[in-house]
Amino acid sequence: MELIKVTEQKEPHVALIELNRPKELNALNPQLMQEVRDALVALDKNDAVRVIIITGNEQAFAAGADIKQMADKSAIDMLLLDQFTTWDQIRKTKKPIIAAVSGFALGGGCEFVMTCDMVIASETAKFGQPEIKIGTIPGAGGTQRLTKAVGKAKAMELILTGRFLSAEEAHFYGLVNKVVPKEMYLHEAFTLAKEIAQLSPVAVQLAKEAINRSFETHLDEGLTLERKNFYLTFASADQKEGMKAFIEKRKPEFKGQ
Ligand code: CAA
Repeated sequence: MELIKVTEQKEPHVALIELNRPKELNALNPQLMQEVRDALVALDKNDAVRVIIITGNEQAFAAGADIKQMADKSAIDMLLLDQFTTWDQIRKTKKPIIAAVSGFALGGGCEFVMTCDMVIASETAKFGQPEIKIGTIPGAGGTQRLTKAVGKAKAMELILTGRFLSAEEAHFYGLVNKVVPKEMYLHEAFTLAKEIAQLSPVAVQLAKEAINRSFETHLDEGLTLERKNFYLTFASADQKEGMKAFIEKRKPEFKGQ
């Protein structure tokens, strides 16, 4: 594991996965997501583990999919890359996953948080789907999960403007379970994890499966449409301009092409 760190028994029955690309604000490239998937598959099979915490660092949970690796890709490149199969496998994890978030959780980072089951946020956390500002749209479930989490009007505002939500706002809208001071977010995530880890692992897994089923029936169809539209943006000049402008640290000029 190069881009993540896994500790199987950080506390009894609680495993910790730390995303570890600090220089890139934990930007999520396919290798990092495959490492997360492999770790989750192994932890799911490990009887000693009952709850999993995923975290970044104080500055960032993750600032999104890796723009530098995507900028020049065509729509067909993105389709063939098929990176979201890894995300689908992550979403099949049977054990509960708590995201412990400090700093940026943007784009794919926010989508990754929403793929987890519960969220503990530091008061410094910032959530958002800013893809629109670089000429694309969420591709890892943001249009579906954010809408379920915060309601249609707020999801429209956030996804169409790329605005960020503060930790307090995210709590108000039901995106996170609890907001705590910066020094406490990981500790609080462990408190929640340990409480769940004392309970029947069988009942916990069955409850998780049942809760997820309450919206997953429509999720598959929604994800398929979102993916196709995300790939389609890579056929536009605006996506090339948006991502190039981010890399060159300037404001993009969108022409609607
Ligand atoms: N991909 C690649 N590199 C990234 C990145 C990303 N998503 N986010 C940040 N970085 C890199 C920066 O390029 C910079 O690298 P250099 O030092 O080599 O220049 C480094 O991380 C630090 O970032 P900044 O200098 O920009 O830090 P900042 O504090 O000024 O700003 C920020 C922080 C607001 C998070 C800003 O970095 C930012 O806007 N990042 C991009 C957010 C974004 O658009 N995410 C969506 C990506 S698309 C996506 O996720 C699609 C999907 O649904 C799957």
